[in-house]
Amino acid sequence: AGNLPLAGRHVLITSGPTHEPIDPVRYIANRSSGKQGHALAKAAFEAGARVTLVSGPVTLPDPANVNVIHVESASAMLAAVESNLPADIAIMAAAVADWRVASEGTQKIKKDGSGRPPALELTENPDILATIGHHGSLRPKLLIGFAAETQNLIDNARGKLERKKADWIVANDVSPETGIMGGDANTVRLVSRTGVEDWPELDKTEVARRIIERAAEALAVK
Ligand code: C5P
Repeated sequence: AGNLPLAGRHVLITSGPTHEPIDPVRYIANRSSGKQGHALAKAAFEAGARVTLVSGPVTLPDPANVNVIHVESASAMLAAVESNLPADIAIMAAAVADWRVASEGTQKIKKDGSGRPPALELTENPDILATIGHHGSLRPKLLIGFAAETQNLIDNARGKLERKKADWIVANDVSPETGIMGGDANTVRLVSRTGVEDWPELDKTEVARRIIERAAEALAVK
């Protein structure tokens, strides 16, 4: 395997949504399927890497030959990512919930008969990509984020590149009519500090292969 492009490298990937508990039986979630992140894990293994996949709740099977760590919340995802550093390449493909419920109840919330619904107070989740982007010596050599947007795709991606100190942002338009969220295909734009590349519509497995191929090339010259 010594001639594979990522032989001897550790690749750390996040995938899927997060579930943020409201009470013991309810949670806040999003429509991420995990298809893109899981495809990246498979592609990284096929390129010869040792792969750690930190996955939120998905219905996909664990990719073969990958160390899969299952988590539910953003806080647990951050803890799993940090405890699996260092990594040569980190790809944060998870759709992490921006907010969680400020004080998770230990008991199921009940209707109180007043007709007034309960008010849920939210608090911001840690930003996993930004946290590891700002890590000093533990920052991966190549740090890749995703940006799913419904408007101002490139401006938003560039903003994330700077704020989160990522090297690349893989930007995709997730407007409902694109069918990307949950679908098998993806049309992405690779945003780096040197420019923007438009990729054609590709299967998520092919998007994954190309990202891994490009990442291996970038790592080789770093
Ligand atoms: O949600 P947002 O568009 O800011 O996500 C951009 C990137 O940041 C994605 O790569 C996502 O995985 C990552 N992210 C994260 N932790 C968060 C929010 C986003 O790692 N709390």
